[in-house]
Formats: sequence, C-alpha cells, structure tokens
Amino acid sequence: MSDQKQLTPALCGQTISSVSSLERSSHNRLTEKDLHKFCGDTLFDAIARTVCHAGCLPRKELYEAWEVARRVRRRFRGGRIVDLACGHGLLAHILLLLDDSSPVALAVDRRIPKSAATLATSLNIAWPRLTDRIRFIETDICNVALYHHDIVVSAHACGALTDLILDKAVEAGAVVAVLPCCHNLKNADLGGLEGWMDGPLAMDAARVSRLRSQGYRVFTQLIPEDITPKNRLLLAEPGLVGK
Ligand SMILES: C[S@@+](CC[C@H](N)C(=O)[O-])C[C@H]1O[C@@H](n2cnc3c(N)ncnc32)[C@H](O)[C@@H]1O
Repeated sequence: MSDQKQLTPALCGQTISSVSSLERSSHNRLTEKDLHKFCGDTLFDAIARTVCHAGCLPRKELYEAWEVARRVRRRFRGGRIVDLACGHGLLAHILLLLDDSSPVALAVDRRIPKSAATLATSLNIAWPRLTDRIRFIETDICNVALYHHDIVVSAHACGALTDLILDKAVEAGAVVAVLPCCHNLKNADLGGLEGWMDGPLAMDAARVSRLRSQGYRVFTQLIPEDITPKNRLLLAEPGLVGK
C-alpha cells in the first residue's frame, strides 16, 4: 500500500509506451493495474501511485488537480487552503504536499464521495505529515466562512458556482484560483464580448474584468487541453491592481 512499494525494472521498462499512450482525460478509475505507468521518482509519480493504490479516482482528476496545484503554488504560499466543491479533495492534498507553508486545508463539498476517505487514508499513509491537516466538511459553499489569509481554490465548480466562489473570496479579501466549467450563458455577464469570442470565453473574460474592478491582480493560464477542454485557470490576488 505505501509509496515505497517497488516496481521491478522490467515492469517499468514496459511502461514508456503505455505512458505516451495514456489518455489523461480518461474518466476511468486509476487502480493498481495502472501502477506500472507511474514508475518515475518524481512527486507526481509518487502521488499517482498512491492514487492507484486507493483505486477510486478517475484518471482525469489526478491530472487536473496536479496541473492546477503546481500553478497555484508557483504564485501563492502560506495561509489556509480552502478547496471548494472539492469532490475527493485531491487538490487540497497536493497543495500541502507541494508546499508545507500552508499549515492546514479545508475541503468542502455538499456531497463528499465515500471514496474521499479511502483516498485520504492512502495519501496519509504515503505522507504521514499530512495526517490531521486536511478537514473535510460536507456542506453548501454558502455556509463556509472565508478569511483574508485563505488560498481559495476550486477545480470545476460548475456554472454559477464559480461566481459564488469568486464573490466569497473577494468579500473575504482572499487569494483565489478557479478552473471554471459548465458555462451557463443564460443571463450571464458576458462583458459585451460575445460578438468577438465564444460565449464561455466571454464569460471568463468578464470574470477577469470584474475581479480587476474589485482591486484584484489577475493571472490567466491554461492547463493542458488534452486533460480537459475546460482548461482556463484564473488566479487572482487582492490589493495589487495595476501591477
Ligand atoms: C464537477 S465536480 C468537481 C469536483 C472536484 N473539484 C474535481 O475537480 O474533481 C463539482 C462538485 O461541486 C459540488 N457542489 C455543487 N454545488 C455545490 C454547493 N452549492 N456547495 C458545495 N458543493 C457543491 C458537487 O457535489 C461536486 O462534487
């Protein structure tokens, strides 16, 4: 079960071609049958092996969480991590693994999958320093109090949920990073941009514009499109407009 589980060189040798043919957007669960695809000695490979041992996470979620987390950590350190609409909560875990400057994390979802506990146990066994640092709360995002020292993150909070998260983060004056999805254009603020660009892009551009008008400095990035077509990452921090 632990990350130290060894793979034979012969088995690893087989993996080069399977890694290159790995579909990162797959919804299939990673299981121990996939261990041979992650033989490297990188942190990503170690996390992937732990996910395989847990046997409950769709492959796509591993790659999404990793790509979001590493970009967030290049910009933002410290504070409490708050992973909203967290699903299995892997994003919160990876953020702590990448950088111990955040002492704790809160992972919130109105319906936390039972297998989130299985995944957390697997991660805690591989990295005992994570134990007791990530708290899961099953509730609506509306009920969560945010503070200015928080790093608020959310991968694929559907539709208007992303706007609720941005509003709550701005109200608290917190750093925020979202990867929007499921754009519902009906009655949406498209910033008047829909004549020049497709609706979902206009909606995300309007989100950027709104954050800037609220005094936030915004960074826009993409995660690789082969993982998800909903790949626009919006990162923002307060109080630095114009920089
Ligand atoms: C597309 S999933 C994303 C899950 C996870 N972040 C990921 O990237 O795999 C959206 C999640 O939002 C949760 N959700 C939807 N509305 C919510 C609300 N009002 N409060 C809390 N969670 C909510 C759902 O239960 C679901 O787990």
